Amino acid sequence: MINQSPYLHMSAPLNLDTQNQKYWGQALESLSIPSNDDPYEVLLTYAPEIAREFVPAELLQEVVSIKQPSTRPYRLLNNLPRDSQLMGVPTDGKRPSWKKSWVSESVLIGIAGALGLNPLSYLQEKEGALVHEVAPISGQQRQLSNCGKVALGFHTDHAILHRRYRPEYLMLIGLVNPGNVPTLIACIDDALERLEPHHEKVLQQHRFRVELPDSVSVWNGKKLLSEWKPMLTTGNNGVVEFSGNLHSVRPMDEEAANALSALVAILAQVAQEIVLKPGMLVLFDNHRCLHARRSVYRERWLQRLFCRHSLTDLRQRNAALASSSYAFDMQALLLE
Ligand SMILES: [Fe+2]
Repeated sequence: MINQSPYLHMSAPLNLDTQNQKYWGQALESLSIPSNDDPYEVLLTYAPEIAREFVPAELLQEVVSIKQPSTRPYRLLNNLPRDSQLMGVPTDGKRPSWKKSWVSESVLIGIAGALGLNPLSYLQEKEGALVHEVAPISGQQRQLSNCGKVALGFHTDHAILHRRYRPEYLMLIGLVNPGNVPTLIACIDDALERLEPHHEKVLQQHRFRVELPDSVSVWNGKKLLSEWKPMLTTGNNGVVEFSGNLHSVRPMDEEAANALSALVAILAQVAQEIVLKPGMLVLFDNHRCLHARRSVYRERWLQRLFCRHSLTDLRQRNAALASSSYAFDMQALLLE
């Protein structure tokens, strides 16, 4: 760990006690989902209620504090229930048919709901699945996305979308990680403390274009670039936010490129390495944290969930979808 973050003193994982882990796990293992139902709709209905039963209120309170501007924008939660029978890892990016239990998915969706967050997905990513399998896909190991094996640079997710359509929070849970491949999380506040003011000013200007991520396929695979936009903005609450992908962003000129290089160097210094072992989860603010991955040299399987405080803007833009829909049409969102 190479971290001198002012938030560091708060970075130890919060542990669920063993008794609640055991009984919550048993409740989730016995959850049966009718084969004709959408499993995610069932989990959205029941998993938050079950989570509230087994996760102590004070623990939830600790986790939910990441919503406050003055608090470290990520939290680790450990000793969570795990699926008792995992027979390998997916190699095609899809939930394996042999995964009969829904424990990990229920933990993600349950904690999100218990924290007052709304899970969401996009129809053109992972076929709209609410929970994403983050594991290398055969033949796509070099891809710079959740499907690859190569190291993935610092980024926020879906920076090409307007802020009101982007995931505000990401949750990642470990299922299989024998090689202890770390996920890196860097707080933009920590980076800005070290960044030269002139570089910060450049990053606030409309001098950058970001790409559609490789994991999303729209209009038969078109590669899209955003308009010229700033990397740094100030949110409604006065908090500085970052949106972009530092391994694919296009700077307008040399000065913009230099500002990006300076930021990349600093992010490596302030990042925290987190090894998501089975039963460990990280929740982070997708506007205040950048995340990255070291190369995956052994099999690894995480699951990911996107969340927002509100889905109202997404539902208004996707008015043709059912009012209970959690999966949104990225093409409609990109056109605005
Ligand atoms: Fe990501």
